[in-house]
Amino acid sequence: MPDAKAPIGVMDAGLGGYTVVKELQRLLPKEDIIFLGDGKNQPYGNRSEKDILCLTHQCLDFLKDKYVKVVAVACNTISTLIDKYQPDYEFRIFSIVQAGSTDVIKLGLRQVGILSTVFTANSGCYDRLIHQELPRTAVYPQGCPRLARIIEDGGFDQERIDTELRETLGHLAQAHPDLDSLILGCTHFPMVSENIRRLYPQFTRLINPAATQARLIKEYLERENALDSDGKGTFRVYTTSDCEFYRSMTDHVGLKTPASVELVPAPIPLGK
Ligand code: DGL
Repeated sequence: MPDAKAPIGVMDAGLGGYTVVKELQRLLPKEDIIFLGDGKNQPYGNRSEKDILCLTHQCLDFLKDKYVKVVAVACNTISTLIDKYQPDYEFRIFSIVQAGSTDVIKLGLRQVGILSTVFTANSGCYDRLIHQELPRTAVYPQGCPRLARIIEDGGFDQERIDTELRETLGHLAQAHPDLDSLILGCTHFPMVSENIRRLYPQFTRLINPAATQARLIKEYLERENALDSDGKGTFRVYTTSDCEFYRSMTDHVGLKTPASVELVPAPIPLGK
């Protein structure tokens, strides 16, 4: 049984997972949260499955050593492989792809676009989960090879962001002029939702699965009697890249001020 006093672990290939921390802090303000962002090895979305699994195991081992009670995989790319690593850990791991698919199913959408990393798009994971409940829904994946990295580089270079969106989302918008719903299928992407709205107003419904992932975690902790109802809500950040950048981005995203931001050794990719 999870220990109510233990922290919630959140991990991402980079800082996109902050968009999930935001929802967790909103919904569960008393919970301690430990965030691990592997900015050094980002993007995971252009790597092989074996490599992603190798890096993911090292991230999860790190969180295990912090005695987390549950983990939010705040990364779509890593979430597509959840069945391959959940059996190795005693704590429950929550996939953001499951959360995004739950959103589509709840809304009963007939067609939906998925803007994601290349790996997530090629995995067919959203299609599979959505089709379990809505077999007729048309799912249109669109991979973006560079967008997550552009965001991770900081500075929010509007020209680079817009160019990448035109070269990726532009195809989807052109091919399906009546498509109005889009899952932000990479946790970095809610940070550029204004760019998407400005360039492609046809997408009137942008779905950020983070709120549903946070709700599913809350419901799980309630069921397990493992909610921390009188905790301090301490937030600690661990990054494998730039501490100052990760600290400043907590502010940018609207998170609680972290109690600490610490540099930790990066997971080692395959063959290194
Ligand atoms: N935020 C990660 C995701 O949701 C980005 C992955 C990457 O860096 O490749 O997929």
